[in-house]
Amino acid sequence: MNQNELKKLVGQKSVEWIDDGMVVGLGTGSTVKHMVDALGARIKNEGLNIVGVTTSNVTAKQATELGIPLKSVDEVDHIDLTIDGADEISADFQGIKGGGAALLFEKIVATYSKKNMWIVDESKMVDKLGAFPLPVEVIPYGSQKLFEIFEAKGFKPTFRKNDQGGLLLTDSENYIIDLHLDQIDHPHELADFLIKQVGVVEHGLFLDRVNTVIVGRQDGPEVLE
Ligand code: 5RP
Repeated sequence: MNQNELKKLVGQKSVEWIDDGMVVGLGTGSTVKHMVDALGARIKNEGLNIVGVTTSNVTAKQATELGIPLKSVDEVDHIDLTIDGADEISADFQGIKGGGAALLFEKIVATYSKKNMWIVDESKMVDKLGAFPLPVEVIPYGSQKLFEIFEAKGFKPTFRKNDQGGLLLTDSENYIIDLHLDQIDHPHELADFLIKQVGVVEHGLFLDRVNTVIVGRQDGPEVLE
């Protein structure tokens, strides 16, 4: 199976955790896209009654097209389960997210979810975090100052660009600065430092948040709980 087939495998497997009547957080990315397709099919074929809470404009568009009823995080009193992708998951179940620039809404929805599940192909499983550049969402005003702070710390920052070569804007019209750290030895300390910097809206370290991981492997989906 190629990488996309592994993503499809876990996307389809994950909807087995969704029961009738649930409020479900819908993540963002190419793996989640398969999950949303599978959820749309279950709603159509089984008449499943669920409410989705999306984490990006892209997922909201897909879910709307599939007829999945949606509410915002502020319109629901709880979220039963959020299913999302990840860019890296370490051996101790910590994660980097935000490769799709949706980390802010993803972290908000994850925060208000009773349970969080990540679905990944096996290439995302690593020993330690950091080979994947760590995204930091920043307010445009003062972002050059933040860039210089990150540079002085040796974080090797780069502003994320869009397809046209301009600065990428998130759904909240912020910038993303990616930190090329190679290896993160102390993720909690780094998370504390980043969130204290004025102008940082959120960072892509998702620590102590996940309950279940489904890994797409060549011999089938592996469920880690
Ligand atoms: C978006 C994310 C995605 O979940 C993450 O980038 C994984 O994406 P994909 O499933 O396309 O590999 O965090 O902000």
